[in-house]
This record gives sequence, C-alpha cells and structure tokens, in this order.
Amino acid sequence: MTAGRFITFEGIDGAGKSSQAQHLADTLRAAGRDVVLTREPGGSPGAEDIRHLLVDGPPDRWSAETEILLFTAARRDHLERTISPALAAGRTVICDRFADSTRVYQGATRGDLRAIVDALHAQMIGIEPALTLILDLAPDRAAARMRQRAGAAARFEAFGTGFQDRLRAGFRALAEAFPARCVIVDADRDAALIAADIARIAARRLAVVAPAPAP
Ligand code: TYD
Repeated sequence: MTAGRFITFEGIDGAGKSSQAQHLADTLRAAGRDVVLTREPGGSPGAEDIRHLLVDGPPDRWSAETEILLFTAARRDHLERTISPALAAGRTVICDRFADSTRVYQGATRGDLRAIVDALHAQMIGIEPALTLILDLAPDRAAARMRQRAGAAARFEAFGTGFQDRLRAGFRALAEAFPARCVIVDADRDAALIAADIARIAARRLAVVAPAPAP
C-alpha cells in the first residue's frame, strides 16, 4: 500500500537529510499543511528506546540479521504509535529514514539479505511512501560535513568509507527499482538550492496524491 501523505528522506550518513526534512516540514506548514516530522530509528517512545540499542556500542555489536529484526521492531512501534494515526487523521508525515534504509544498510551491504528485509517488511509494515527523496552525494563530502557535527551516530559511521560507497550505490539502485516514488536529489549543493528543489518536487507530488483541503 502507498500512503498518499507520507514522504521519506533517505541517503548516506551526513547527506543532510535531517535539516532538509525540517526545512520541508516548515515549508509545507507555511503552505497550510498539518505536518508530523519524525525519524527512524525512533519516532515513538518505544522505538527511541530501541534506537539506543542500535546506534550505541561497537560496530560488531549486532549481526546484520539481528539488526533487521531490531530496526523492524522499532519501525512497527513507530508505525503503530506515530505514523498510522497521523496519516489516518489526514496529516502529512515526513520521516527521516524509513524502510529503504533497512533495504540498503542491512539488506545490501553485508551480504545479500534483501529477501529477508522485504519479507519482514511485507508482513510487519506493509506501507510505502508516496515520495522518497534520496539525497545523493559522495561519501568523502558527507564525511567532511559530519566532522562538523557533534554526537553523530558513531556506530554505523565506524563501518568506514567503503561501506558508505556501497550504501550510495544501494540507494541509487533503489531509485532505479522504484522510479514511481523515488527521486534522487543532488545534495552536493548549497542547502537553500536543495531545499527549493525538494519543495517543488514535494508540492507537485502532494498535489497529485493528496491535495491539501481548501482553506
Ligand atoms: P540516523 O539517525 O538517520 O543517523 P544519521 O543522521 O547519521 O544519518 O540513523 C542512525 C543510523 O542507523 C544511520 O547510520 C543509519 C542506520 N540505519 C540502518 O542501518 N538501518 C535502518 O533501517 C535505519 C532506519 C537506519
């Protein structure tokens, strides 16, 4: 099922998703939409608890298989408590990462576990966004950005630049596989230019799938 007012941001670590998601939320609110801005892993109290298990600790703390289960458990709680109620109330949901992150991080970088990710997703989550904005830039550029920010999710970053290269390729492959909902955005530009592109893309998509109520 595709959810009409559901927009996700994806990309490698340090691509600028969080600030662009915030920017889009501000823009859509200014245009009169009721927006819930949320993130994964997290976005509900239970999922935020699971987030600590996932992002803290040494890189080899969990196998990729265990991570799939933990990320999916967090997502299920987030869906039940935050995303589904908001969509049912007619609100627009913007989420910083969603199932595509599991497809790429756990499904494609440490062995081919994509079939497991997809099977669990079908059983436990079952929805796809109407629009997925994939922020694309070279890992060395993203790493330079991340060095400027404190408290970044250290565990996944510890997998190194080769890992980030595989992630980037994985997200690009997803965009090719799901062209109806995925749009690649060049994230190696001035933040205001990126935000303007994203606002245009989102406005166009929402006008088709979920028009705002007349004022
Ligand atoms: P996030 O908070 O988005 O970190 P960042 O802002 O640095 O991008 O996510 C934390 C880490 O969890 C990030 O490295 C990506 C990873 N992750 C997965 O491996 N699988 C997933 O399904 C999700 C949602 C995130």
